[in-house]
Amino acid sequence: AHATVLLHPDFRTGTIDRRLFGSFVEHLGRAVYTGIYEPDHASADEHGFRRDVADLTRQLGVTMVRYPGGNFVSNYVWEDGVGPVEQRKPFIDLAWRTVEPNVIGTDEFLQWAEREGIEPMMAVNLGTRGVAAAAALVEYCNGVAGSRWADLRIAHGRVEPYGVRLWCLGNEMDGPWQIGHKDAHEYGRLAAEAGKAMKLVDPSIELVVCGSSGMQMETFGEWEQTVLSYTYDLVDHISMHAYYEELDGDRASFLGSATGMDRFIRRVVASVDAVGARKRSDKTVTISFDEWNIWYLKSRFPGETNLPLQHAPARIIEDVYSALDAVVLGDLMVTLLNHADRVPLACLAQLVNVIAPIMTEPGGAAWTQPTYHPFATTARLARGDVLDVRVSGPTLSTAEHGDVPGVTAAVTWAGERESGELGVFLVNRTDAPVDVELRHPGVALTLGGGVQVTADHEPAVHGPEHAAKVAVEHVTTLDAAPVVTTAPGTTTVRLAPESWT
Ligand code: AHR
Repeated sequence: AHATVLLHPDFRTGTIDRRLFGSFVEHLGRAVYTGIYEPDHASADEHGFRRDVADLTRQLGVTMVRYPGGNFVSNYVWEDGVGPVEQRKPFIDLAWRTVEPNVIGTDEFLQWAEREGIEPMMAVNLGTRGVAAAAALVEYCNGVAGSRWADLRIAHGRVEPYGVRLWCLGNEMDGPWQIGHKDAHEYGRLAAEAGKAMKLVDPSIELVVCGSSGMQMETFGEWEQTVLSYTYDLVDHISMHAYYEELDGDRASFLGSATGMDRFIRRVVASVDAVGARKRSDKTVTISFDEWNIWYLKSRFPGETNLPLQHAPARIIEDVYSALDAVVLGDLMVTLLNHADRVPLACLAQLVNVIAPIMTEPGGAAWTQPTYHPFATTARLARGDVLDVRVSGPTLSTAEHGDVPGVTAAVTWAGERESGELGVFLVNRTDAPVDVELRHPGVALTLGGGVQVTADHEPAVHGPEHAAKVAVEHVTTLDAAPVVTTAPGTTTVRLAPESWT
């Protein structure tokens, strides 16, 4: 089959915000304990954090990390997680029914992020708590000496404010599973008051208000509009969350997941802009896609209410990924890039052990899952602006999304009209090879390297050996793009069946 991608460096969709390559560390399962933090591990640094995990995080290209939840944040008392560790009390986290030892809290996380050069995105508890606790946490993190909460931070040994810029107003408050779940009016009012107080403490912060937990939520659309009717003028971003999985062996629908994500983004943009239009507002509220990934949620997760009570670190949702999952994840990143004008922030949920690209064994190895590769390569090569490309090619019929494009593409451009680096991200969702003709009139290309991931048909198996085998067989580093022909203004690239390049 044959496809074309028409590009021109003068036609641009938007500029990539580096915070698009974010991830997420929640107090859930082994994300924190035996994930980023394990003081007895051979690679632990002087603060008890695993160096092997931090190194893989850096190579993954993660720019920002959301913390401490997720569902966890909705019953979290942050004051109990600061100060001398020996005085902190364990508590039962109701979201994941796990006894949380409270050894890692706000200071430990923020200092880890700072040492690793990662921007933190903090979430406040709007489930069981409210305005005062949220404003106090902003003051604890960002305040200067001379006021109660800032002085408490200083008493705990941290003089310099952390300067946390990004703040989530709760988490998935539309979800009935959320501790302290609210309807859109209750949440909208609370978010408006909490956000107002937080910005009065530090006017430089950016606020993310909760959108829907997914497009399948019954309240989707209505939720966004109601919540924004209270918060439009106050907030900077609205959140989106989405997880994709192959259900009942429906491979085609799974391969079309990024079209589902694309439609979800367009619908949220429409809902947001409808509120702006009603208000005759010139302001643009953008999207924080602060949870996205492949997660075998419907097919393998028992649900929050059926979890046994455990002590951290517990093995919860440690999904194992295949090369097929990696191809779909790469395609989801193509969609995110193509919405760079409206989606400046995104978090691959999550970073380590919990539905994650990085896995560990307690006291043992850290390794990467197949999904690591398209993320790392995209974070490395997608720079500058996203070009407004035109793609035509074969169609893929799916039960879930109808007919979707068989080939998807995102092209990024860093540099000036005459010279610059082009990042070309191509996905072949079909089961036949496709020759993609890149048309770049007036632009000469010198070919660089790349990475190609081809899908597999075997079930994923846990462990570093299997992950390494999948990487050898399905992840290829290319010295040059898999080019079949070049002519002035045209370059033809061959895409393997079901592949991400
Ligand atoms: O990322 C796992 C969970 O998924 C988060 O805690 C929650 O926000 C979402 O439902």
